[in-house]
Amino acid sequence: MSAIDLHARASKDYAAKLAETTALLVKAAADYAPGEITQASSLGAEDVVISHILNSHQLDIGIFVLETGALHKETLALLEQFKATSRAPVTVYTPVNASVVQFVARDGKDAMYKSIELRKACCGIRKMEPLGRALDGKKAWITGLRREQSGARADVPLVDTLEPRTKLNPLANWTLGDVWHYIAENGVAYNPLHDAFFPSIGCEPCTRAISLGEDFRSGRWWWEANLEGGAAKECGLHVKTEKATA
Ligand code: ADX
Ligand code: SF4
Repeated sequence: MSAIDLHARASKDYAAKLAETTALLVKAAADYAPGEITQASSLGAEDVVISHILNSHQLDIGIFVLETGALHKETLALLEQFKATSRAPVTVYTPVNASVVQFVARDGKDAMYKSIELRKACCGIRKMEPLGRALDGKKAWITGLRREQSGARADVPLVDTLEPRTKLNPLANWTLGDVWHYIAENGVAYNPLHDAFFPSIGCEPCTRAISLGEDFRSGRWWWEANLEGGAAKECGLHVKTEKATA
């Protein structure tokens, strides 16, 4: 059963949500110069929907992918396909090689399983430092965060006015069913891992398939589920270190 068969189910107000999302992105493209705004894409279901809207409306907003060096081969194949077909420019950021080599030599390939500190250190090298480069000079960025994804994301606003840069979450109020309905309706290319019960896809060592009834994010950093009350289950990309102004 494909992810489309399993999930595509538009909510009653899907058309209104799609119109609101599209209007938000059109306005963002008008409000910011192309170099001031960017979409963060993990090539997950939400992100391919946003990129599809950017491309179909020919909005001048570039897209970046953090290629951590630990992604699944399926994600890397989708990245190549996406780079070749996207109208919007796609920039790939990779970690500093010397930092990765040093970390793996000192703490091992499986360091992320040994402690939360080492897992966060790995995310620091492979995601956070490259994210800093991707966002350097940007006034705003666009993410695929949805409220439904987890308790920690329940209050995600459509527009988060943060310092030093605004975060737009154009799918904040979409359901998983809405996301897959859009993918099905528009024939959007998606990561085949979604068909193998991976609703949320990150790095290979830190992502696994889930079983029926399990929480959608339970396949991410699953061994940490009971540590720190589950609060550890974010990589830092969306932890509010930036000071909110609104
Ligand atoms: S994470 O914090 O747990 O890794 P998640 O996979 O849910 O995040 O993705 C949430 C949003 O973060 C995505 O919609 C995307 O905007 C951004 N994001 C996550 N991973 C990446 C990545 N590798 N490259 C670029 N953006 C990413
Ligand atoms: Fe490292 Fe896992 Fe974080 Fe990826 S998600 S950067 S492999 S700890």
